Amino acid sequence: MHLPNGLVRSYSLVNAPGERHRYAIAVNRDESGRGGSRYMHDQLRVGQVLQISEPRDSFPLTEAASHSVFIAGGIGITPLWNMVQRLSQIGAPWSLHYSARTPEAAAFAEPIAELALRARGLVHMNYDGGMSSKRMDLAAIVASTPSYAHLYCCGPVRMLEAFETACADRDPALVHREYFAAPAVPQPAGATDQEFTVKLARTGKTIPVGANTSILDAVLKAGVDVSYSCMSGICGACVTSVLGGVPDHRDLVLSDAEKDSGETMLICCSRARSPELTLDL
Ligand code: FES
Repeated sequence: MHLPNGLVRSYSLVNAPGERHRYAIAVNRDESGRGGSRYMHDQLRVGQVLQISEPRDSFPLTEAASHSVFIAGGIGITPLWNMVQRLSQIGAPWSLHYSARTPEAAAFAEPIAELALRARGLVHMNYDGGMSSKRMDLAAIVASTPSYAHLYCCGPVRMLEAFETACADRDPALVHREYFAAPAVPQPAGATDQEFTVKLARTGKTIPVGANTSILDAVLKAGVDVSYSCMSGICGACVTSVLGGVPDHRDLVLSDAEKDSGETMLICCSRARSPELTLDL
């Protein structure tokens, strides 16, 4: 969403994949967020025309999985709800563990429960009232999931970190998560980011990237128009093809296999392991 006030925000499409006449999103008003949801709740009006960019899939569903387990916290249900609908459409088995503060705060709880009755799905709701003692036991959920199942999680950082820990021994190809906010990653003691240069293949221009600057900032400063949104490696908007050099991936979007291939990188947070990178810009 390219909002009239200049903010760019990414939201999950929540409608079933077969529905082609509209895009549906759900926006939770976040008082402590960076302002996008507050703007949308307070300023946008029915009938207003907004600019959007093409939908992008940085959190894909493996439809062929013999079992899929979804774990959602709060508004983290949004990227998972259309996956649930899709698996139901094709008759694939799934289960959903969905935690919210209260029943009133649980988006889509009723249609999800209805779908579970009609389809090969199972829904486990958890209402924690904001109390840590009533949080979902992710370790127990993961431990009770067969090793061949695909696991998906979206929710607050705390939940995603518990999910990562619970899945540490699982095949990474079967573990999927989407972050709303980047977790704090402590820099190892004494570590500093090195300077490097970026060559822009389409113009041949070479630009320096300082130790305290991101590639995205350097590229924007050079007057190149690139897509971006979260600026913290969680939305995938700034994905860029790498034509030369070795990226130092620091995002939470690309899979390990994609990172190992070195073919693309997220330029808002990732850096370079080689003195120069050549990007398809
Ligand atoms: S702008 Fe969101 S991942 Fe780079």
